[in-house]
Amino acid sequence: MINIALDGPAGSGKSTVAKMIAKKLDILYLDTGAMYRACALKCLKSGVSVKDESAVEPIISNIDLKIEYKNGSQVTVLDGEDVSLDIRRPEISMMASDVSALKCVRLKMVEMQRLIAKNMNCILDGRDIGSFVLPDAEYKFFVTADSKVRAERRYKELIERGNAVEFESLHKEILQRDYNDSHRDFAPLKQADDAIVIDTSAMTAEEVCEKIMSYIGRK
Ligand code: DC
Repeated sequence: MINIALDGPAGSGKSTVAKMIAKKLDILYLDTGAMYRACALKCLKSGVSVKDESAVEPIISNIDLKIEYKNGSQVTVLDGEDVSLDIRRPEISMMASDVSALKCVRLKMVEMQRLIAKNMNCILDGRDIGSFVLPDAEYKFFVTADSKVRAERRYKELIERGNAVEFESLHKEILQRDYNDSHRDFAPLKQADDAIVIDTSAMTAEEVCEKIMSYIGRK
């Protein structure tokens, strides 16, 4: 079984690169951020604050969340409905960061992630894959980039999708999410001690992919 952990902050290029690597190696790509986004959407639909742990717990412990694959792409299914597009709404990002700080949410999602990784060759992108979810993963990478570069990438992505966003507020939100994700008590955004760090600020996705592939070829 091959497991590749690809961690890093928002906008570091993880998902683009993870998709490319999954295709090259013909393995599964698991976007773990989508799972936390689905938890946030579930809370929103249930009218529960993502910061209220006692209200969130019963909702998430019974969540009907499935990760499926159609034509090689991940489909996030919540309560039987494809929410893959819905969870990309900009307002869901901050809510996902908040809900992911709750231990009950993380324990549930990590259990699902470990089960998928145990049964399949896959590359997982997230914040705590190498440091917590799969500490024994064969390959661990931590990608990072300057916060302005990351905000620019997100900005382009959202504009292309037709979302009305403002660069400055997006940059602020990215900094706030970096802070939240790396300061929570349980399984924070963290570079695993044995991860290979790649600064992608001045690199294209293809270059990052090549670099990661060169390490994979080496072992
Ligand atoms: O990767 P993303 O931006 O879609 O993730 C949304 C939020 O989910 C992110 O701000 C923090 C959280 N997250 C997490 O805590 N752990 C993961 N493995 C993946 C995402």
